[in-house]
Amino acid sequence: MIETEQTTPIDQQQPGTAQPDNDIILEARNVTKLYPGTVALDNVTYHARRGKVNVLVGENGAGKSTLMKILAGVIQATEGELVLEGEEIRPKNPREAEARGIGIIHQELNLFQNLSVAENIFMAHEITWGKTIVRHGDEEAEAAKLLNRLEQPIDPRTLVSYLRVGQQQIVEIAKALALDINILIMDEPTSALSTAEVEVLFRVIEELKANGVTIIYISHKLEELMQIGDYIAVLRDGRLVAESPMAEIDLPWIIERMVGRETTSTYRAPQHAIGDEILRVENAYLPRPGTTDYLLEDVSLTLHAGEILGVYGLMGAGRTELFEVLMGLHPRARGNIWLDGQPLNRQINERIKQGIMLIPEDRQREGLVQTMTVADNMLLASLRRYVRRFYLSRHAQQQNITRLVNELAIKVANVDFLISSLSGGNQQKVVVGKALLTEPKVLLMDEPTRGIDVGAKEEIFEIMRQLAAQGLGIMFVSTELKEIMAASDRILVMSKGRITREFVHDLATEEGLVSASAMGHELGQMGR
Ligand SMILES: Nc1ncnc2c1ncn2[C@@H]1O[C@H](COP(=O)(O)OP(=O)(O)OP(=O)(O)O)[C@@H](O)[C@H]1O
Ligand SMILES: [Mg+2]
Repeated sequence: MIETEQTTPIDQQQPGTAQPDNDIILEARNVTKLYPGTVALDNVTYHARRGKVNVLVGENGAGKSTLMKILAGVIQATEGELVLEGEEIRPKNPREAEARGIGIIHQELNLFQNLSVAENIFMAHEITWGKTIVRHGDEEAEAAKLLNRLEQPIDPRTLVSYLRVGQQQIVEIAKALALDINILIMDEPTSALSTAEVEVLFRVIEELKANGVTIIYISHKLEELMQIGDYIAVLRDGRLVAESPMAEIDLPWIIERMVGRETTSTYRAPQHAIGDEILRVENAYLPRPGTTDYLLEDVSLTLHAGEILGVYGLMGAGRTELFEVLMGLHPRARGNIWLDGQPLNRQINERIKQGIMLIPEDRQREGLVQTMTVADNMLLASLRRYVRRFYLSRHAQQQNITRLVNELAIKVANVDFLISSLSGGNQQKVVVGKALLTEPKVLLMDEPTRGIDVGAKEEIFEIMRQLAAQGLGIMFVSTELKEIMAASDRILVMSKGRITREFVHDLATEEGLVSASAMGHELGQMGR
């Protein structure tokens, strides 16, 4: 790899260290993809190396998913060719790509909500007697094996609609593992997973590698990439700007190439005044349906105006349930909640009016309406605010949308385009914008940075800080330890539906958080 000027398109490997061609298993040659108003990929030449973890990075909207969808036959390039093992291929659909050994785990969850976990895993290639009779028992047994391999013993008969985003992500991974695949593309497989689950996935990736499988891996969790990657390629604005063996580069190298400039800041310690108590929860319980067990057990907490409260925990710890209970989504929940000294109303829309708002973790199911435009999605939760004086309100709407698009740096050619034309990370920013338009006093953000690139994350944290400085109380969940530690004034750790520990910002350590998050699990004889 050679350090180059910004104007030189690619950091090439030095001739002496160049890999023999035999190492390249899959190649995109001069691939261009045009959408109306957007050049998603601009003459990209990309290599995936045999039996390695090939990491692909880039900002939101850089073209990563587009390139991967082309390799996997989901969409076709406007120009350019694909070469597999030296031979040109033109997969017209994912089945044709799979027949050539290329599989993909999509960034956006693609599961059928009304089918079981096992049915989803074996969707495309059912296990049958003869040609038609599906052997459900065998599928369930196989599915259970795959899920155990991922150390997530989800019952294969569970309907997918009952699963959390993180669990759905695990099912997506299991679905890909069920295929006989030689090249596996993983488009942000860990965006909803926390440290422990990511480590399991990494062990599986190592196993796949040992069996000769080539991996292409996309993530915005950059430390994760440094850990797992053998090679890295960087896309910026639809162009391939750098390629290198991972061993030769470091984190600043990646960030600089992603954003095209040197970045100075990492997360800063929060510094704003904490005000009066704004939210109080006492003894909240949420029964687990059909059992005597609890999804949330005796949860009490307070949140202050101007405070950013981080909530950390492993999958299934109850973080999302806590936010949902605060928002009023679980009629069966018990306990007392006060906002600004007033008991919270039972109705969700009344709670929104009282000033609490949730940004859900699952933007596909709950956050956005895919058939509506970017602007309409943003306005969805706050229409009431604009109704009164119609003439003014149209103008106010436009102004607010424009302001948020700029502040959140949402990459969109036109806010009247369909939301589905935005890249995953940019859709996430629209969800944040939508919540901000309701002007809440308490903002609950469930994984607000899921799938968001490093620069935009910093923007979201900056927005959180600004909102806190204006007196909002903010609670947020993140699966990334570093993020939680950097952005929170105070941190609650949850395990198995309980709050197991509380840290004020300066006293939080990664070890402390991890061990508190494992309390009640096999490892956890740590006590309270
Ligand atoms: N179906 C579509 N119609 C129009 N534009 C699209 C469509 N799909 C993608 N684009 C545009 O192509 C560009 C690249 O999008 P892509 O999804 O590949 O980005 P990405 O690098 O995967 O980003 P992220 O990190 O947010 O997932 C974006 O500007 C996006 O808006
Ligand atoms: Mg993407």
